Amino acid sequence: MMDAGLPLLEVTDLATHFHTQRGLLRAVDGVSFSVRRGQTLGIVGESGSGKSALARTIIRILSKRHTTTTGRITFEGRDLLTVSEPDMRDIRGRDIAMVFQDPTSSLNPVKQVGVQIEEVLARHLGLRGRAAQTRAIELLTSVGMPLPQERLHQYPHQLSGGMRQRVAIAIALACEPKLLIADEPTTALDVTIQAQILDLLHRRQKAHHMAMILISHDLGVVAGYTDTVAVMYAGQIVEQASTRSLFRNCRMPYTAALMRSAPNLSDPPHTRLRAITGRPPDMVLPPPGCRFEPRCDDATDICRNRRPALSASDADGTHRYACWHPVASPGASA
Ligand SMILES: Nc1ncnc2c1ncn2[C@@H]1O[C@H](COP(=O)(O)OP(=O)(O)OP(=O)(O)O)[C@@H](O)[C@H]1O
Ligand code: SF4
Ligand SMILES: [Mg+2]
Repeated sequence: MMDAGLPLLEVTDLATHFHTQRGLLRAVDGVSFSVRRGQTLGIVGESGSGKSALARTIIRILSKRHTTTTGRITFEGRDLLTVSEPDMRDIRGRDIAMVFQDPTSSLNPVKQVGVQIEEVLARHLGLRGRAAQTRAIELLTSVGMPLPQERLHQYPHQLSGGMRQRVAIAIALACEPKLLIADEPTTALDVTIQAQILDLLHRRQKAHHMAMILISHDLGVVAGYTDTVAVMYAGQIVEQASTRSLFRNCRMPYTAALMRSAPNLSDPPHTRLRAITGRPPDMVLPPPGCRFEPRCDDATDICRNRRPALSASDADGTHRYACWHPVASPGASA
């Protein structure tokens, strides 16, 4: 299962702070992880934990004026935080593509579907005319679009939400990216379409040995489609492990609370996380110790005062958690 060589993407001590009227908002605050070729990393966490900010930082689509980003994002040996804007434009769409929760925000409402796909093919692959059109039809067919030829001349508003997301995926996959970042790609869709879209991404990923970061607040999604999972809380990764190890033996009380809200792998897929008591902290003034402390039943003085580092819970260091009082056994079947 292990891939030889360097990871495709390596994120090191990444921080993204938004400049707000109240001060710096620490949306991403010291995050490190890596993704290998062909591998899927799930990023899971409640609303506001920084998942989208992290994704947008990686593909550099946040406003430079309103954010400060520090750390390193190494993709195929290049630091994405320091490459030039033209180089980044080449990487974005060709090597790293992104699918957003709401396809209406990524599609252009006043351009026909075919034009939007062909623009990407022209820009990154130099394909034009009939060759581009043939490829656009192939792409739409590959994402399960009914009547692909006719869709070329339609506008996004003429399509259903599920079909719009298929177009967005066709565009994202047009250049066979090495990494796809899918940020809650199915949250806006109904349940049957959700499963179809996730299966589609999974199949395409396997066929093309593409790496994927699948972002979700839904543990059911993460369980079924990922190799490893990073759990985010208040801008930080609080537990990180192979999907199997995380579901069998989670150590961080926050992860355990997520598990209890969607406890079993045998549950129907896409089971929603039940809200955990209390609210995530204000990221302008986060608690000085463990950020989960105000909501944690196991908290003690040390949790209030000192931030727990991510430490290994297994011999090879692949399962890591940040907690002073880790849970001893999984709550998975509770
Ligand atoms: N452009 C922005 N300016 C200021 N603050 C922002 C901006 N975008 C996001 N935030 C804040 O950053 C934090 C992280 O937001 P983010 O959108 O990354 O969360 P998320 O995990 O993707 O949540 P969701 O599951 O709701 O999509 C939140 O506190 C949010 O309010
Ligand atoms: S460090 Fe303390 S407050 Fe934080 S999750 Fe662990 S026990 Fe709870
Ligand atoms: Mg988000």
